[in-house]
Amino acid sequence: MALSDKIQKLKKEKKAVILAHNYQRPEIQDIADYVGDSIELSRKANEEQDAEIILFSAVDFMAESAAILNPNKKVLLPCLGARCPMAQMLTVDEIKRAKKQYPKAPVVVYVNTLASCKAECDICCTSANAVEVIKSLEADTILFGPDKNLAEYVSEKTGKKLIPIPANGFCPTHLLFQPEDVKVLKMQHPEAVTLAHPECSSEMRKTADFVGSTSKMCRYAKESSAKDFIVGTEEGILHRLRKENPTKNFWLIYEGAVCPNMKLTTLDKLYTALKEEKNVVKVPEAVAKKARASLDRMFEV
Ligand code: 13P
Ligand code: SF4
Repeated sequence: MALSDKIQKLKKEKKAVILAHNYQRPEIQDIADYVGDSIELSRKANEEQDAEIILFSAVDFMAESAAILNPNKKVLLPCLGARCPMAQMLTVDEIKRAKKQYPKAPVVVYVNTLASCKAECDICCTSANAVEVIKSLEADTILFGPDKNLAEYVSEKTGKKLIPIPANGFCPTHLLFQPEDVKVLKMQHPEAVTLAHPECSSEMRKTADFVGSTSKMCRYAKESSAKDFIVGTEEGILHRLRKENPTKNFWLIYEGAVCPNMKLTTLDKLYTALKEEKNVVKVPEAVAKKARASLDRMFEV
């Protein structure tokens, strides 16, 4: 029996649901029950009333959010080493230091953070809803971490002052995109529409016709009448874009834009984690309770 069939069989037996991020390997996206961006997957994790196990094929912070939102379910991360380096860039100490310096400023953290930081903030956001979350706050000066590029993007969109914590948090994969590479692709495909993730640098975002989260990019590509697209996010998204739009063309701005952590999960690891019900993601209840409140405030917005 093929490994993917074994996973499907086991999944039914164990009442498991497989959630996969848009950057996962093609073979994993193909067997997943849901493929999406971080907020969609958090919502799905929340909605899956009948599932007993959530097999979260992504990186640490996404599975942690699922565990926080689903204290009664078993959340498994197929590869425990799949950790987002940007999420590691913000610490609780850093938040406390910033709060001391700007006591009146609310703290907003991107979901790409550890649970302990979510527990310390006023509200969370994702790249799909960051603008709305910031607009929902009365304050004009806001502490925001860990992605400095997302902070800049949201500041441009809302006119509010976002103070980045730490001073220079970033995604190493999205920093690989350069405007020069867009220029070359534009010369080859002059009609192409450029899509960029808000984690890209401001120079890169300026070259884009559309800036949005991974799922917003997918929606945009589907609804657009354009046939050619230049893509500024992790390469895994190409699988979904091509699958959903077989008559359209997609070019990655830089072929090496691979998030090594997202690629650590393989079908093999997924199968073993499910079979042995191992790599259970647990968040201490005291932290989870506060982090859940920050996530719930985001869902209300
Ligand atoms: P999305 O929420 O847009 O999927 O982004 C998550 C992420 O890790 C981007 O690098
Ligand atoms: Fe983290 Fe960047 Fe990988 Fe997204 S692409 S999981 S932000 S390192």
